[in-house]
Amino acid sequence: VNIAVLASGRGTNLQSIINNVENGYIHDANIKAVISDVRDAHALERAKKYGISAVFIDPSEFSDKSEYEKELIKKLEEFNTDLVLLAGFMRILGNKFVRFYKHRILNIHPSLLPAFKGLRAQKQALDYGVKVSGCTVHYVTEDMDSGPIILQECVPVYEDDTEETLENRILQEEHEIYPEAVKLWVEGKV
Ligand code: GRF
Repeated sequence: VNIAVLASGRGTNLQSIINNVENGYIHDANIKAVISDVRDAHALERAKKYGISAVFIDPSEFSDKSEYEKELIKKLEEFNTDLVLLAGFMRILGNKFVRFYKHRILNIHPSLLPAFKGLRAQKQALDYGVKVSGCTVHYVTEDMDSGPIILQECVPVYEDDTEETLENRILQEEHEIYPEAVKLWVEGKV
C-alpha cells in the first residue's frame, strides 16, 4: 500500500505514522510522499529526514480550489497513492478530490465526532463544559469532519484544563489510534 500524507503544520501525527511503519506495526505499507500547502511546514522537514519525498504545492499559484486539487491529484498519482492520510491538513477537500479517492482518505480529528467539528475542537469542548472528550479517525467525505468513523478514543476533561493541556492529552491518544486505524485499513479490516 502506497501512502501519502497531507499536512499543513508540525506533523506529530505524521511522525506517529512514520514510526509505526518503521517499526513494522504497519506492514506492507510505504509512505511515498508528504505534501503540504504550507512552504515551511515542519511536517516537510520530518519527511525529508526519513528520505520521504516532501512536496510543497503553493495554493496561491492556482486560480481556484478545483485547479489546486487537480494538481494535488496529479502529484498523488505520480506516487501511485493508494491511501491518503490527512494529518493536520488545514483545507477542506472538494467533491472531485473526495470522489477520486473514495474510501481511500482518512482524517484524524481532536474530538469525539460528531461533537465539535471544525477548528479548535479542544477549545469548543472546554467552552461547552464536557467532562469527556477525545479523538476520532474517520473516512473523509464531502462534508467536513463527517465521514464514517473508524476508531475513537476518549480522555477525561479536568476542571483546570487549558486548551493546551487538553490538546496534549488528546494528542497522545491521536498518536495511538491513527496508526492503529491505518494498520486496519492496510490489512483490509476496516
Ligand atoms: C491534530 O490535533 C489533528 O487532530 C488535527 O490537527 C492536528 C495536527 O497536529 N486534525 P500535528 O500536525 O499532527 O501535530
